Amino acid sequence: MNLADINKIISPTTAEFIGRRSHKMLIDGQWVAGSTGATLDVVNPASEEIIAKVPAGDAHDIDRAVKAAQRAFESVAWSKMRPAERQRLLLKLADLVEANAQAIAEIESLDNGKSAQVARAVDVALTVDFFRYMAGYATKIEGSTVDVSVPFVPNGEFVAYTRREPVGVVAAIVPWNFPLLVAAWKLGPALATGCTVVLKPAEQTPLSALFLGELILEAGYPAGVVNIVTGDGESAGAPLTRHPGVNKISFTGSTEVGKLIGKAAIDNMTRVTLELGGKSPVIVLDDCDPALAAAGAAQAIFFNHGQVCCAGSRLYVQRKMYDRVVADVADIAASMALGHGLDAATQMGPLVSREQMERVCHYIDLGRTQGAEVVTGGARAGERGFFVKPTVLAQVQQDARVAQEEIFGPVLVAMPYDDLDEVAARANDTPYGLGASIWSNNLSKVHRLIPKIKAGTVWVNCHSMLDPAVPFGGYKQSGFGREMGRAALDAYLETKSVFMSV
Ligand code: NAI
Ligand code: MG
Repeated sequence: MNLADINKIISPTTAEFIGRRSHKMLIDGQWVAGSTGATLDVVNPASEEIIAKVPAGDAHDIDRAVKAAQRAFESVAWSKMRPAERQRLLLKLADLVEANAQAIAEIESLDNGKSAQVARAVDVALTVDFFRYMAGYATKIEGSTVDVSVPFVPNGEFVAYTRREPVGVVAAIVPWNFPLLVAAWKLGPALATGCTVVLKPAEQTPLSALFLGELILEAGYPAGVVNIVTGDGESAGAPLTRHPGVNKISFTGSTEVGKLIGKAAIDNMTRVTLELGGKSPVIVLDDCDPALAAAGAAQAIFFNHGQVCCAGSRLYVQRKMYDRVVADVADIAASMALGHGLDAATQMGPLVSREQMERVCHYIDLGRTQGAEVVTGGARAGERGFFVKPTVLAQVQQDARVAQEEIFGPVLVAMPYDDLDEVAARANDTPYGLGASIWSNNLSKVHRLIPKIKAGTVWVNCHSMLDPAVPFGGYKQSGFGREMGRAALDAYLETKSVFMSV
C-alpha cells in the first residue's frame, strides 16, 4: 500500500493531518518550528515511505518548553483552577480522543505499523478510559489529619495534617511501541494532580502526540500546561532529563536509557519513575488445555508484534505437554497474515523501524548460533517494509542470550520444565521482572507460584491484561514506580506536613 492507496481508505481527519506533511511542535500554547529549523523524517514502516517531517527539537527548544511549563504551573489559570474544573478538562479531553478514535488509530498505524483496528480497540480505547479514570482523582486528592503526641513537649497542643501538592513540571519521555497510550499514562495523573508537562514522543512515532496536542488545546487547557517537543533521545530527551526546571521524570523505554535517566535525575533530585524492559515468562502447567494455552502464549508474544514491554517472550511448558504446545504456537505463528496496518485482514504489521527489524533479526541469528532450533519464522518477511516473520525458537538454553535479553519483536523462546520450584527459579532468572503469566486451573498450584514470581504483574490464564485501575510496573531491572491505579498518583504528588502549635 503506498500513499496514494492509503489516501483512499483513511478518514478525512487523518487525510488532512497526514496531508500536511510538515508538522510543528507545541510550546506555550503555540505551534512552533524547532530553533534550528532542522527536521526529522517520519517513516511508514510498512512501506518505508517518508510520510511527514517533524521538528528536530534540541536543548534550546527544551528550555523554552520547560520554562513555559514552569510559568503555567505558577499561573493563576492553572494553579488556582478548581479540582472540579481539572476533572472536567480531562473528561473533555477523553471525549475528544473518543470522537477522533478512528483518525488516531489510523495515524498510529501509519506511524508505528500496528493494525489500526487493534489500535482503536486497545490503544485508543484504553487512553479514553484512562483519562476518565484519572479525571475522577482530580477531585479526590486528600491528605490526612494526624493526632500527634510529641514526647518532648508533653503539655503541648498541636494540629498536624498533610497536604498533597502537585510535584511541578513533569518530563514525560515515551517510546514508540504504544505512542499515544504511554503518553496518556503520564499525562493523565499529571493533569489530574495539577502538574504541567513537557512531553517528548519517540523520534520514530511523534504523530499521535502532535494530534493529541491539538485536542489538548481544543479541550481548553491553558497555554504551557502541556508542551510537546519532538526530537531524538540525545538532542531533546537528554537535555530534558538534565533540566533543573523539571521536577519529575516519567520515562518508559529501554533499561539502558532508563539507567542514564535515573542517574541524571539524582543530580537535580528530580523525582523519577522508570518503566523499562522485560523478558516476561509464560508458564504453562500440564493440567490445562494445550490448545488454549498455545493460543494464549501466541497472543502473549505476538500482540503488537512482540513490541510490548511485558510481552510473554519466554514460554515454559511442563514437559509432558511441551511438544504439543510448542507445535500449536508454531502453527498459529505460521498462519498469521502479515501486512499493512490499515488492511483489515492484517494480523501482524511491520516492526517500527529498520533498526528494530535488524536488531530482532540479529537476535534470531544469535539464537541459531547458540544452538536454538527455528521451529517457524526466523527471518525478515519480504523486501519492502520492516516485517519479521513470527518466530518460535526451541532447544534454547536458559542462559542463552535470546532467553535472557529483551528482543522486542515477534520472537518466542520455548523451554520445557519438570517441576514448579524449578520453573519459578527459571522464570526469575533474568535481570527483568515486569510481568509473568501462569496457565493452569489448579488453584493451589497457581497460588503457590504467584508469591514466588518476582514481577510487577502476574496474570493467570491471560497475559498483558491492562486496566486503568490496576497498577503496572516492574521489579528488578524493569524499573521502579507504578503507573495506573491509585498508585500512579503518588509519583505526581509531594506530601507536605503541616504542624501547628495551638
Ligand atoms: P529508547 O529507550 O532509546 O527510547 C525510548 C525513549 O527515550 C524515546 O523517546 C527516546 O527518544 C528517548 N531517549 C533515548 N535516549 C535518551 C536519553 N539519553 N535521554 C533521554 N531520553 C532518551 O529505546 P529504543 O532505542 O527506541 O529501543 C531500544 C530497545 O529498548 C528496544 O529494542 C526494546 O528492547 C527497548 N524498549 C522498551 C520499551 C518498553 O516499553 N519498555 C519501549 C521501547 C524500547
Ligand atoms: Mg535508543
